[in-house]
Amino acid sequence: MVSDRKKLTAVLGVTGGIACYKAVELVRLLVKDDFTVRVIMTHGAREFVTPLTFQTLSGNPVATDPFDLTQESEIGHINLADSADIFVIAPATANVIGKIAAGIADDLLTTVLMATKAPVLIAPAMNIHMYENPILQENLRKLRRVGYYFIEPTEGFLACGYEGKGRLPEPENILAEIQRLLRKKDLADERLLITAGPNREPIDPVRYISNRSSGKMGYALARAGLNRGAAVTLVSGPTALEPPAGARLIPVTTAAEMRRAVLEEFPSCTAVIMAAAVSDYRPIEYSSTKMKRGKTPLELRLEPNPDILKELGAKKDGKLLIGFAAETDDLAANAKKKLREKNLDMIVANDVTQEGSGFDGDTNIATIVDRSGASRALPLMTKDELADQILDHLLALKSRR
Ligand code: CTP
Repeated sequence: MVSDRKKLTAVLGVTGGIACYKAVELVRLLVKDDFTVRVIMTHGAREFVTPLTFQTLSGNPVATDPFDLTQESEIGHINLADSADIFVIAPATANVIGKIAAGIADDLLTTVLMATKAPVLIAPAMNIHMYENPILQENLRKLRRVGYYFIEPTEGFLACGYEGKGRLPEPENILAEIQRLLRKKDLADERLLITAGPNREPIDPVRYISNRSSGKMGYALARAGLNRGAAVTLVSGPTALEPPAGARLIPVTTAAEMRRAVLEEFPSCTAVIMAAAVSDYRPIEYSSTKMKRGKTPLELRLEPNPDILKELGAKKDGKLLIGFAAETDDLAANAKKKLREKNLDMIVANDVTQEGSGFDGDTNIATIVDRSGASRALPLMTKDELADQILDHLLALKSRR
């Protein structure tokens, strides 16, 4: 129960899917968390659950029809759009996502959504093959680009009989995401310089050496920073991720390019978070033509890349410096050593051999160590949640200065 804040309004759009029953529970949790809840149901949703259920739980009339004169005079679709502190669609069908992406507003939900200025959180839920459909995926990318937020469906048994990704997340998790999006803008004074992803060090025009970094941690930090009001510059190696709406993206490939971009941006930032898995080595020689296959072993000679973070640590210049340490052994000792040697304020260490931790997944298990020597081992959590924990820690360090 959140008691020390003004009552916030969540407008909840419910569309026609079997997961509608979970939206009922979501309304109950929102009301319990002191939200005013206003529900809009599509025609399809009303085939699964009656408006009376939502009306009883929310304590407010349920809006269904843009041409209903009684509803329009009592609620008013623009009034509904303006009243939202957050707009949630759960469950969201492939159909409604397609309509929103195409700019169609042919029912009350899509019309009100079109008129809202509130942050929008969409929770897709559908059959796994529908979720994987490239048209749906393209629509999700398009909506992410223009600033809509999504909570990913979870994996498990689907009502259609399939196993896979497509289930509506549990109402508690949707509520946690809503609370996260409504956090106060406590980083409004920060200009974060965040690096993400791997580097690629070319061997010849078609080959390179790289590492398994996906960029997800750095992108999660960028999203969390933006959500909390920070200005974010994201220097990113090659990734398959959609850049967060509102970040200034500087795409780079090699460690040398990353170093150049970071040094150029350093003077204007307040804090640097180096989540990138910088390539420690690059080939000494680059062959400008494609190397031919031979019969004898090929030796590739590498030279070290400069340590970007260490270079920043030597300047410091009043900025907070946060590094990551991906380790396979002696986690705490190695992380502390890096913190000291690179003159950092905080290091986020993770044991990449642990299940649920490290490179490609959506979760991480991290230990945060700061320059006072204090260390905090965090449980398994999503990279989005870890991003907020890191930013909380950054603020705490600032306040201690
Ligand atoms: N880092 C960097 N420049 C490098 C290598 C790493 O700025 N050339 C940064 C990373 O972005 C990370 C931190 O330093 O924030 C630690 O990276 P990590 O690879 O764990 O450590 P290294 O210093 O490279 O040491 P080692 O690979 O020997 O563990």
